[in-house]
Amino acid sequence: MKLQSSYIKHLQKSIMQEFILGSGVMHSIMKTVNQVAKYDVNVLITGESGTGKELLAKIIHLQSPRSENPFVPVNSGVLSGLMFEDKLFGHEKGAFTGAIRQEKGCFEMADKGTLFLDEVSELPLKNQVDFLRFLEDFCFQRIGGNDLIEVDIRIISATNKDLKDEVKKKLFREDLFYRLHAVPIYIPPLRDRKSVIPKMVDHFLNQCAVNFKKPKPTIKPAVIELFLRYDWPGNIRELKNLLERIFILNDDDVIGLAQLPSDFAWHFKEPHCIKDLEEIRKNAEKKAILDVLYRLAGNKEKAAKTLNISPRTLRHKIQKYNIKVERSLKPFKKV
Ligand SMILES: Nc1ncnc2c1ncn2[C@@H]1O[C@H](COP(=O)(O)OP(=O)(O)OP(=O)(O)O)[C@@H](O)[C@H]1O
Ligand SMILES: [Mg+2]
Repeated sequence: MKLQSSYIKHLQKSIMQEFILGSGVMHSIMKTVNQVAKYDVNVLITGESGTGKELLAKIIHLQSPRSENPFVPVNSGVLSGLMFEDKLFGHEKGAFTGAIRQEKGCFEMADKGTLFLDEVSELPLKNQVDFLRFLEDFCFQRIGGNDLIEVDIRIISATNKDLKDEVKKKLFREDLFYRLHAVPIYIPPLRDRKSVIPKMVDHFLNQCAVNFKKPKPTIKPAVIELFLRYDWPGNIRELKNLLERIFILNDDDVIGLAQLPSDFAWHFKEPHCIKDLEEIRKNAEKKAILDVLYRLAGNKEKAAKTLNISPRTLRHKIQKYNIKVERSLKPFKKV
């Protein structure tokens, strides 16, 4: 289904407003995006989970001459074998049990548009062969069909794994890797571009205010400081989800440290209860000696053997830790 060009313009504008650049590296990524969008080259986007790979793929599609046609995402990770073939190629009525009518696959749905192959590293080897064959001439048959169908699609793939490494491990076909990887784009994790955090926080709070129809709260500098100290393993998705949670669960007009959920604040707890390493080692040693002496009814020779130390060292430690051997013999009181 073709979209109207005024609607495309609206989508282009809103997705660009949604996508925060902030850092130099993101500006240079955007430059590459603007250059490749015009051409029908395959793009491989890599980056950790939550860094914005799908959002970037949509931007490439919307900036491309294909923008009026569909953007079809496929998650390669959840499909294998026949299910994958069915999802991509579609099927004819009666092709297999349960095929009650003809169904188009993603290749046909994405015709003249873009196919977004997400988590491409998870594509099973057998399906990689099917896919490669399809890429030869963009022709395929629906399952149970005889007609050869030709489509015109652009492929953008994404992965959070190092695909080259997967090739080395023989989990990903090298020929397919080179076909998909014509233009690689790497999105760095949020921890490597933390300077964008204040801007993103502001952006997501604005979004929350619109989506949840509540006034936007102000955020205290101490919270931003904490956000800058945190490493965000879930990247932008984690930041966005956290802010949504804070926004929904608080009616205060200020977000301070008190408004942070306890599971997040926990990352910054002062380690009061953690003693220094020497103390931890001493406590563990004392506990182990007491334990062994108790089990061996106070036999120091056997205890030294069990602990793999000389009787002299054991005597020294018993003295050092002020261990009362007789007391260690008493069974623990049952309460
Ligand atoms: N630069 C950005 N500016 C604003 N929002 C962003 C940006 N990058 C990502 N997001 C938002 O973060 C969330 C995660 O983005 P997206 O789904 O594109 O990540 P992903 O890399 O595909 O993650 P995954 O590997 O887990 O599938 C989305 O809600 C997206 O809108
Ligand atoms: Mg994704």
